[in-house]
Amino acid sequence: MKVLITYSTLTGNTKKIANSVKDAIQNADLLDISEVNTLDYDLIIIGTWIDKGSADNKALNFIKTIKNKKTAFFFTLGAYANSEHSKNCNNKITEILKENNNEVIGSFHCQGAIDPKLIEQMKKMFPADHHHGANPESLKRWGDASTHPDVNDERNAKEYFENLIKKLG
Ligand SMILES: Cc1cc2nc3c(=O)[nH]c(=O)nc-3n(C[C@H](O)[C@H](O)[C@H](O)COP(=O)(O)O)c2cc1C
Repeated sequence: MKVLITYSTLTGNTKKIANSVKDAIQNADLLDISEVNTLDYDLIIIGTWIDKGSADNKALNFIKTIKNKKTAFFFTLGAYANSEHSKNCNNKITEILKENNNEVIGSFHCQGAIDPKLIEQMKKMFPADHHHGANPESLKRWGDASTHPDVNDERNAKEYFENLIKKLG
């Protein structure tokens, strides 16, 4: 089975997980999303970082070119992995892939450190009582995110994709 693992990343979190996926599927091609020049694969696995509640633009543009394929995806995000927000992101990316008649066989996600420059911007832009502002909840979440992806996330990603490939037989 020919497998493509491709990812979009700004600060390296999603690339880290892409490397774990590659560890799980060693004969797969691993490419930055801007390097992909064929979709001639049996399974396409897309990695994206979350930008405003969905895949980032580079990943979105790439996803829109995939039609009638077996796919899976993974993402990293600043919100907690078990949050409603991450569930919504998961559903949204699944829907976008399905719009073009793609089969989605699985997905994985974990928290990822938020660029400190963005945190500084949010502190300036939003009052503390805004959900993006520097209130105790946000400060805790930003702090918790700052250590991810960690070794557990990397191991979980590897195990998840090993099992997914095993199920395909
Ligand atoms: C412009 C921008 C928008 C973001 N929007 C969201 C968002 O809507 N929800 C979220 O949970 N995280 C958001 N994040 C956090 C990133 O998704 C997260 O830090 C991710 O792990 C970055 O991955 P990367 O290192 O591969 O670029 C945003 C980050 C940036 C820079």
